Amino acid sequence: MKKLFWFILAGCSFLFGVEGKEVFDAKCASCHSYYIPLNELKKNAQSNNTLLKLKAPTLNQLSFGVRLNIGDIKADEESQRLEVEAFIENYIAAPDKKKNVVPPEMTKFFPAMPSMKDLLNEDEIEALSNFIFSYGEAMIAEHSAPFVSFEKAKELAKQEDKIIMIRGILPYCKWCIKMDREVMVEKEVVEALLKDFVIVKTDVALEKLPLGMKSLGTPSFYFINKDGETVIAQIQGYRDKQEFLELLNTVKQNAKQ
Ligand code: HEC
Repeated sequence: MKKLFWFILAGCSFLFGVEGKEVFDAKCASCHSYYIPLNELKKNAQSNNTLLKLKAPTLNQLSFGVRLNIGDIKADEESQRLEVEAFIENYIAAPDKKKNVVPPEMTKFFPAMPSMKDLLNEDEIEALSNFIFSYGEAMIAEHSAPFVSFEKAKELAKQEDKIIMIRGILPYCKWCIKMDREVMVEKEVVEALLKDFVIVKTDVALEKLPLGMKSLGTPSFYFINKDGETVIAQIQGYRDKQEFLELLNTVKQNAKQ
């Protein structure tokens, strides 16, 4: 009976493939923690790791480290995934701070990572690497205010008396990613947005902005009244948390007039 059970289990894992998260939990999570907001990590780095006493960079830092530095973020995703996989395979076999992709000011207080050569097979490395690759964006989606289509936004804005905010982005725009990581996931920002705004995210390389608005370059923000027709403001450029909260406030004031 026991044999049959293992046989079925092995069959299942063959069918469904190795889970990247399971590999991470088994082989990496003892040192690398899951998501911690970047602003907390920055404070921790300033304290020389005395605040959080981390053992290693977080999974989120690894994810953005590889996305921003390994291969070409502007190339198609599949080829970047392959390069990231090669990097992870190489790094865990032969860790070396000289190859690091997380900024040194965020990692200088960590000891060297021990080599894990031959501890993972090819399938595990592939699954693990894909998991690391996608993790960062998944965390942004989980911690930011949700976005909807422009059609849906018009409906919601009318129903709930809210302002439409369109974010003009490009997937490889570093200042957009910085804003995602440091501003959009912050609690006060999420609350301010949920309270008075509905959000549309537009990849300006793929989609046109509504109402004939031209992209100002990324990141950019386009605010439209609840009527879905009147443009309140068009803003270009990175804003830190405080600046962004102030911007939202100004837009609210202007919308009332
Ligand atoms: C015993 C603790 C430990 C384990 C287990 C561990 N790591 Fe690490 N890892 C570290 C430390 C410490 C660092 C930071 C120092 C360094 O860069 O070598 C690090 C750094 C890294 C880096 C480089 C980060 C950068 O700055 O570029 C990668 C990539 C990485 N680990 C991947 C993994 C993966 C994948 C696993 C699981 C298969 C894993 N690690 C398991 C401790 C660990």
